[in-house]
Amino acid sequence: MIKAVISGTGLYTPPATIDNEELVEAFNQFVEMYNSEHADAIERGEMEALLPSSSAFIEKASGIKRRHVIDKSGIVDPERMAPYIPERSNDEPSVQCDMAVTACKEALEQAGKTASDVDAVIVACSNMQRPYPAISIEVQTALGIEGFAYDMNVACSSATFGLQAAVNSVENGAARAVLVVSPEICSGHLNFRDRDSHFIFGDACTAILVEREEDTKPGQGFEILGTRLKTTFSNNIRNNFGFLNRADESGIGKPDKLFIQQGRKVFKEVSPMVAETILGHLQSLSLAPEDLRRMWLHQANLNMNQLIARRVLGRDANEDEAPVILDEYANTSSAGSIIAFHKHKDDLESGDMGVICSFGAGYSIGSVVVRRR
Ligand code: COA
Repeated sequence: MIKAVISGTGLYTPPATIDNEELVEAFNQFVEMYNSEHADAIERGEMEALLPSSSAFIEKASGIKRRHVIDKSGIVDPERMAPYIPERSNDEPSVQCDMAVTACKEALEQAGKTASDVDAVIVACSNMQRPYPAISIEVQTALGIEGFAYDMNVACSSATFGLQAAVNSVENGAARAVLVVSPEICSGHLNFRDRDSHFIFGDACTAILVEREEDTKPGQGFEILGTRLKTTFSNNIRNNFGFLNRADESGIGKPDKLFIQQGRKVFKEVSPMVAETILGHLQSLSLAPEDLRRMWLHQANLNMNQLIARRVLGRDANEDEAPVILDEYANTSSAGSIIAFHKHKDDLESGDMGVICSFGAGYSIGSVVVRRR
């Protein structure tokens, strides 16, 4: 039987950063402008005044300190509060393709492989900048890979669902190696004028190479012991953007065509589901929580991750057991758990086990249990 392993990972981090203070300063200027523009209506009780944001709240409620973004200037401009991501001509590579190629090259280099060793590319992320031709086929061509490629979207769980698809393709012989790449431009669908969520997301792109064990060096990478996926419908995290809903003329986007969530409900409903999924998955592999050396969790909220880790382990996890990248990157949707894995995997010793777990809109949860070879 063919066995699949993760032999390399890569990460593209956009150079521009916005810290909480800068983000809040722009937001609060926007609030002042809005409130003074509508002062009379607010006074008459016809409109509600907007409330200011606070960086202390953001760090305490989420653990986020800053985020990397594709474009900073448009986001911190209180007159605009949306990134400038100019449309490119049909002859140029897409923004997501550029991010993906950088991350994929690192994953290939880490694995000691080239494009000729790969048979498939899966672009798995929350938002594609266009429906077709698939971004993944563009990436495939940019890298010079033969074979096939497709895009898939399971919101924040896209990378782990993509990993399962890659494992299936490798283990059933459809591909020798598959790149799973998650170019997340979350700033493109975040409403930077919404106090409840303006601080949540950042941009980044991850890549993972899944290969046949026989094509790797002994001791290289991580064997994949199993994957488990779970979905259950919820409207509590939603993005209505689609071909039926065009952005307004400004290009900034109608508020209800951007990301919205009921954060409290998400926190309460998803945390126990995630812990249950991980525990059930471990049990099905005859493993116990104590067998886990590390948990690379989706990075949406620090308190949520601490709660999930506590429910799985029966005690608090330290940062070595459940590393955090949220402070630096914010929520990068499907890329989050893979960034944690990419940055915090090299110190594991042969035989050490861990779980990569993502969760988010849908609701969707993906759990991938791995063992260092
Ligand atoms: N600045 C200052 N205060 C703010 C604020 C801001 N930017 N946003 C909200 N507040 C206030 C609220 O008005 C509320 O005030 P009140 O108690 O006087 O009504 C208070 O802070 C608490 O707000 P709440 O929304 O309940 O905060 P929270 O502790 O639930 O944290 C989230 C908010 C979004 C960080 C948190 O719920 C979360 O991360 N949930 C999970 C989300 C998730 O994982 N989503 C997945 C996306 S893929």
